[in-house]
Amino acid sequence: MYNITLVLGDGIGPEVSKAAARVVDATGVSVQWDVVEAGADVMDEYGTPLPEHVLDSIRKNKVALKGPITTPIGCGFRSVNVALRKELDLYTNLRPAHSYEGISSRYQDVDLVIVRENTEGLYSGIEHWVGNDAAETIKIITRKASERIVRFAFDYARENGRKKVTAVHKANIQKYTDGLFLECARKVAEEYNDIELEDVIIDAMCMNLVINPHQFGVMVMPNFYGDILSDLCAGMVGGLGVAPGANIGKEIAVFEPVHGSAPTIAGQNKANPVACMLSAVMMLHHIGEHEAAKRMHDAIAAVLADGKNVTADLGGNAGTSDITDAIIAKLQK
Ligand code: NAI
Repeated sequence: MYNITLVLGDGIGPEVSKAAARVVDATGVSVQWDVVEAGADVMDEYGTPLPEHVLDSIRKNKVALKGPITTPIGCGFRSVNVALRKELDLYTNLRPAHSYEGISSRYQDVDLVIVRENTEGLYSGIEHWVGNDAAETIKIITRKASERIVRFAFDYARENGRKKVTAVHKANIQKYTDGLFLECARKVAEEYNDIELEDVIIDAMCMNLVINPHQFGVMVMPNFYGDILSDLCAGMVGGLGVAPGANIGKEIAVFEPVHGSAPTIAGQNKANPVACMLSAVMMLHHIGEHEAAKRMHDAIAAVLADGKNVTADLGGNAGTSDITDAIIAKLQK
């Protein structure tokens, strides 16, 4: 029996996270879900979108599946998601982009993984005004964070039979910050003589990805580049509806879809739960339930390929509950 925190989130968060939990339960893996709420819906009750008991539950269980959370605009709160990653030191943001039969997209057979540094870079949150007409932000790159993220990428490549890691940077211009990141990548690469390191400048990377995504596999990069490139890669395989993610630290991991809380379709049984379900597949791998993860993944892929029970964003007219039922039915066949 696994104890796992289920953070419902807000907007479409509760619908997609509960749907994903239902499918995990249907794999037969025994999970005791600790269901907690965070986000805009709990602001009145707790005075914060991220109550302490949510963090405590994740710290205790070490693994969480999370629905998206709205970032309130202009009321003093920074992103709950950024706060959560910092608070729990979830230093890796892992975002696979994988093609699925039945999902229309510009490219086929894409199989990319972005390993994004999640704690520093341009997201250090250190910004200030200089007089009234200028503003500055500080980009922080440290040897510690750079080496650990590159090491994560190489370990991931090794565990997943990949032969190359691509480090993405702009060291030709940002000579100190990205220069340090690249220096760390080269140093860590020396520990892995079975895996090649290549390095590509971020702008060239965007062009090369669009020309031929098949030349890349595992890519590692500072925070901001990872934010942008992971959306670009999600777009290559059909968009946010099929883009899962994980935030992984030394001991704790939080799995969540890349998409946001989509407030305009919340509570209408319209949300596509697949990205959250694919995040749950990553979670099952993380806890060592590889066989159940594969069965769950195959059931999702079969329903997508079938095309009869997909949500409106994927061109169908099924509701959140219909696609979830169809996936559970495939699993139980
Ligand atoms: P969004 O991802 O919520 O929505 C973008 C578009 O995609 C909308 O048209 C939406 O309806 C659609 N969409 C997204 N997910 C969908 C799904 N599962 N099924 C069907 N359609 C889907 O991005 P947006 O509008 O920029 O952000 C809304 C809120 O979500 C913001 O407050 C933002 O800060 C937050 N957010 C939270 C994230 C998280 O919790 N990890 C990640 C990204 C955004």
